[in-house]
Amino acid sequence: MKVHKIAVIPGDGIGPEVIDEGVKVLQRIAELDGSFTFEFDYFPWGCEYYAKNGKMMDDNGLDILKNYDAIYLGAVGFPGVPDHISLWDLLLKIRKGFDQYVNLRPIKLLNGIPNALSNVPRENIDMLFIRENTEGEYAGAGDWLNKGREDEIALQTGVFTRKGVERIIRYAFEEARKQGKSLTSISKGNAMQYSMVFWDQIFEEVANEYPDVKIDSYLVDAASMLLIKDPKRFEIVVTTNLFGDILTDLGAALAGGLGLAAGANVNPEKTFPSMFEPIHGSAPDIAGQGIANPMATVWSASQILDFFGYEQWGNQVIQAIEKTLVDKKVLTPDLEGSSTTADVGDEIINNLVKIK
Ligand code: NAI
Ligand code: MG
Repeated sequence: MKVHKIAVIPGDGIGPEVIDEGVKVLQRIAELDGSFTFEFDYFPWGCEYYAKNGKMMDDNGLDILKNYDAIYLGAVGFPGVPDHISLWDLLLKIRKGFDQYVNLRPIKLLNGIPNALSNVPRENIDMLFIRENTEGEYAGAGDWLNKGREDEIALQTGVFTRKGVERIIRYAFEEARKQGKSLTSISKGNAMQYSMVFWDQIFEEVANEYPDVKIDSYLVDAASMLLIKDPKRFEIVVTTNLFGDILTDLGAALAGGLGLAAGANVNPEKTFPSMFEPIHGSAPDIAGQGIANPMATVWSASQILDFFGYEQWGNQVIQAIEKTLVDKKVLTPDLEGSSTTADVGDEIINNLVKIK
């Protein structure tokens, strides 16, 4: 029997509530399949941990996590701990420390979710964003000079390396080829004459190796308009850290909101574990009430299944979410329902169908 070891970091606020449902779904899939199991180890890291210990995670946290096949994260962040600390000392530490340079964010409007775009058929909203996840505008390079003075200066430098740009673009081409879909690059070469022209040039170079993949390239401002007016143009999308961060929130709004949006942080070489998470935060406004929507977290469980090579089960999880949405009987308040987080988790499990 194959055993997949998963490190679970439930985190803060609604994190533990939604993670419970994702773990339940994964356990049920393993039961239904019978050829593999999951072993879950829990780590109490996050803002509560910070309040007690003055740090977001153990000093040897990355050494501990290194031994796992995947990391399953709820959400971190809570009032009282500055967001730049919770982000940099846990999430980004893991993303960067484990070279998780691919951020995968599916944007697919499932049946049962209202379509925010009245002029666009729902099946046209179906894309996969591949966001560079380790460098670019979020590399953390810069300085803050002459603090508090009249001549104060803040510098936030984008860092684009040939290695970094080439590998994310190559990953995207491979994915487009695998799925038989087009690949769109989003950048801003007109205004950023160094980094983004560099990006565009590498995109063209790598494209030469993939003559079978249909390509497009847009400026980020035009792309934001087209995502609303004509989302069908976008199938597989590759873009920088900053642009990807912003555009995928726009995408999340097209596909049912934060309650459904999932993201995987992948180290494709599997030198280090990859991390799977809902993209929403800890939602302090509804934490502790048992009403958070677990669908984003369950969706990221489907990404874990895909990552381990069980794509059929990954699909099965999405279909079970979709059936739950279409039936409309068991939904959380953000989707106009009155059910609890655990009810929705149970309903998704009921909607799973045994394959093979
Ligand atoms: P948020 O995503 O936590 O919440 C935004 C709004 O969406 C809130 O009204 C919340 O109730 C709602 N919402 C979010 N997830 C939901 C779910 N599963 N079901 C139903 N409603 C949901 O973003 P916010 O409020 O800006 O940040 C709260 C904290 O979370 C901050 O400390 C922030 O730094 C942190 N955060 C952490 C992230 C992570 O761990 N990956 C990502 C985003 C924010
Ligand atoms: Mg974001």
